[in-house]
Amino acid sequence: MDVLGFEKLIYHYEKIEKIKQGRPQFPVNLTVSLGNYCNHGCRWCTVYAVQEEDVRHADFDRFISFFTRAKQRGLKAISYVGNGEPTAYPRFRELINQVGELGIEQSMFTNGHLLDRYRDEILQYFTFARISLDAGSTPVHDAMHQVNGHFDKIVNNLADIIERRQDKLPTIGIQYATHQDNLSDLHRCAGVASRIGADYLSVKPVFNWGGGANQARIDPNRLSNDDIEPEVIRARNDFESPDFKIFYRPFQIDSVAKDRNVFEYDRCVAGFFNLNMYETGILTCCSPHKVEVGTIDADLGELEQRIMEATSNLDLSKCPPSCRYHPMNHLVDTVLNPERGREFHKNFL
Ligand SMILES: C[S@@+](CC[C@H](N)C(=O)[O-])C[C@H]1O[C@@H](n2cnc3c(N)ncnc32)[C@H](O)[C@@H]1O
Repeated sequence: MDVLGFEKLIYHYEKIEKIKQGRPQFPVNLTVSLGNYCNHGCRWCTVYAVQEEDVRHADFDRFISFFTRAKQRGLKAISYVGNGEPTAYPRFRELINQVGELGIEQSMFTNGHLLDRYRDEILQYFTFARISLDAGSTPVHDAMHQVNGHFDKIVNNLADIIERRQDKLPTIGIQYATHQDNLSDLHRCAGVASRIGADYLSVKPVFNWGGGANQARIDPNRLSNDDIEPEVIRARNDFESPDFKIFYRPFQIDSVAKDRNVFEYDRCVAGFFNLNMYETGILTCCSPHKVEVGTIDADLGELEQRIMEATSNLDLSKCPPSCRYHPMNHLVDTVLNPERGREFHKNFL
């Protein structure tokens, strides 16, 4: 089992049982957008168009009120990701303190530049932080993220947190969205990550969807596994250790190269495990399809009902190739449809 895969579903087997029985339930995780402002301008960013709109920030009190109600209903964890940079939210410190006091686990995707402002709270309350670094040097980082010399500060911020943490918590992971314009820096990034004591490097493709790499800001990603794998193997040979792992899932690159989902399943169940919450207060059970199930002021029982209905009516042929839930849906599908167990020799354990 690893932190990025979906084998961890086994910890939530009772939720799969409820899906099987057609019973409503509240998701374990919330993916939260605190605003559409970002201090970086990644050339492939799928939400760049949203960031071009007038700046919007989450309504602090409404958000805390929803988190409080959701916690009582079964919410366990919050991941700050969203349309902008979570650490640029003006009341971020206050928010993560209050969520920590509610006893909800926290994590974030961040570009890492402002992490020093919240170091102590991150050390106290966060389970993990994943830093979207995408480079191993200042020139490549400047060019990919459209910034001016942030790379060294980000690396120092991470090194500081890693040095001060106890029992290897929070987990510090570095993400590398791979494109022909930054592939040459991947090995250097792995070297930096292992040197500062990060826990892992996750190598992913740049997706060609959602207004990301389809825009004039960057060419579509043309990399295949044949291009990326040799670099991953070189980095693994030189830097991987029991304390530093390099995650690379060829199916993700394959999906982007083939421009389709490569996993079989007939129902998306992501909404039973994760809900997306936007700075506008809108909740969706699927972010690519933007399937709204209500707002943060909604009655939670009604919300659970709408998640059930929405997850039964999704047009799976329109799902983006890169959706992170394809492998999870495939896994749950094998449980929900026992006849498929034959194909997987289910009794030969
Ligand atoms: C939109 S950002 C918001 C959170 C934060 N600002 C950050 O940099 O991580 C969320 C994640 O989406 C990733 N992302 C955005 N557009 C992408 C694309 N076209 N392909 C792959 N990853 C993308 C970013 O690299 C980042 O890891």
